[in-house]
Amino acid sequence: MTEEEKKKLFSSLIHELSAATRGSDAPDAALQAVCDVLKGKVPHYDWVGFYLTDPNAKDQLILGPYAGESTEHVRIAFGQGICGQAAERKKTFIVPDVAKEMNYLACSPTVKSEIVLPILHLGEVMGELDIDSHTVDAFSEEDRVFLLKVCYAVARNLLNAQQARKAK
Ligand code: SME
Repeated sequence: MTEEEKKKLFSSLIHELSAATRGSDAPDAALQAVCDVLKGKVPHYDWVGFYLTDPNAKDQLILGPYAGESTEHVRIAFGQGICGQAAERKKTFIVPDVAKEMNYLACSPTVKSEIVLPILHLGEVMGELDIDSHTVDAFSEEDRVFLLKVCYAVARNLLNAQQARKAK
């Protein structure tokens, strides 16, 4: 996809995605809806999933809702693989060619590139959005900016859900 095509597609999806994250009573359903929309509508997104920080072990990520093939990586320690490194360094990782990475956890040989964005609140990692592509070098600045907005919407949803739980 060209950058122009991405721009058009992403701006048409952002409203649908923020609407999907608006309700706070069922965060799993909201996150699942985000995965389904992203995987279903963006041709170069072949696996889309969330990892959430384990509330009982703040240096561990647990697989949350996802769309795509099942993965053996259901728990990832901070520092381990691309997901663990993104969580440890609180920074977005774009990997154009996963075959060139040393610290990488392979899910499937068909995966060629990956983007991982931490979902942050007050400097804490609440979780991450992880997307794999079967195309080398699939992710660009357009993806990063779009997915950052998606992560903001998801963070708001997770926070609202936490607050609603506490208020009960
Ligand atoms: N490739 C990731 C592991 C998660 S799977 O892509 C679903 C990593 O290296 O952290």
